[in-house]
Amino acid sequence: MSPELQLDSHGRLRHLLTLEGLDAGLLTEILDTAEEFDKTLRGPEKKLPLLRGRTIINLFFEPSTRTRTTFELAAKRLSADVLNLQMAASSTSKGETLFDTLKTLEAMQADMFVVRHEASGAAHFFAQHAAPGVSILNAGDGRHAHPTQGLLDLFTIRRYKSGAGRPGPDCFRKLRVAIVGDVLHSRVARSDIHGLRALGTTDIRVVAPPTLIPAGIEQMGVRVCHRIDEGLDGVDVVILLRLQKERMLGAYLPSMSEFHRDFGLTRKRIEALRRDAIIMHPGPINRGVEIEGDMAYGPQSLILQQVQHGIAVRMAVMAMILGPPQRRAADGRRGLRRARSAA
Ligand code: CP
Repeated sequence: MSPELQLDSHGRLRHLLTLEGLDAGLLTEILDTAEEFDKTLRGPEKKLPLLRGRTIINLFFEPSTRTRTTFELAAKRLSADVLNLQMAASSTSKGETLFDTLKTLEAMQADMFVVRHEASGAAHFFAQHAAPGVSILNAGDGRHAHPTQGLLDLFTIRRYKSGAGRPGPDCFRKLRVAIVGDVLHSRVARSDIHGLRALGTTDIRVVAPPTLIPAGIEQMGVRVCHRIDEGLDGVDVVILLRLQKERMLGAYLPSMSEFHRDFGLTRKRIEALRRDAIIMHPGPINRGVEIEGDMAYGPQSLILQQVQHGIAVRMAVMAMILGPPQRRAADGRRGLRRARSAA
């Protein structure tokens, strides 16, 4: 899968398929733009006219609560027209191919598709076949990538770990990050690692039993830990991953309770963390498995803030790709300010 497919000849986003290959400058531009949108979302007038007249279609072939609804809300906040195709009730259930589904919906003058699919590479397939001017946003493809989740995780980390004032370039470099749980099946882990590495984080530990660690993951620049206490030692950020039981065809674990005992974030383990360490989870949570049930929304948890940040981050990506040309990419934030003062 070629990461270059998502950039145009000027290095601007045309699609968003993966965080792999995106440099620190572009990632920072997206996060800065999201900060501006987040300010708007906290004010009385949450809607901006940036994507008026544009049509965005959500194609979710897998279930979703957070990603689908925040993409829809983000598009509506930008004044786009949004369609949610019910895939089980669509003609794909009669055998229509992904290619024909794409071409059929393009004929309705769609500008952007948000795609979630169980197959790694599905979003790339759409991007390869999309008409000029039509953009694809990957909302999660198999085990491969979940780039907007990666971005909202980076946004959350930057917001809570950059201290007072504007985040400096060292914000990510000094961090110690533990990614704990089902790394094997996790597109979130891959997107988080790509994003953190691009922004300079060098101390990233992936923490799981050997059966849930993909072969060769060290090549992504992470350290593998099979003991949770070693993995959590001194960390600033803990990113928990959901055990993806629906993708586990074999016996990856003796039992959920044994996983919780050996790799779950228990109250005792939370108490042993640094006082300023933050706890994240992309959701949905398996309560009592990845984290002790009544600690899920505890004082160090940012799980619900992650959901909230997803709206601003998705608005940023949509506006940078689909907004008026003067409002795209490096000009995104300035364009947003112009739109606000014109509104
Ligand atoms: N984080 C995430 O992708 O959640 P959903 O499956 O609810 O969209």
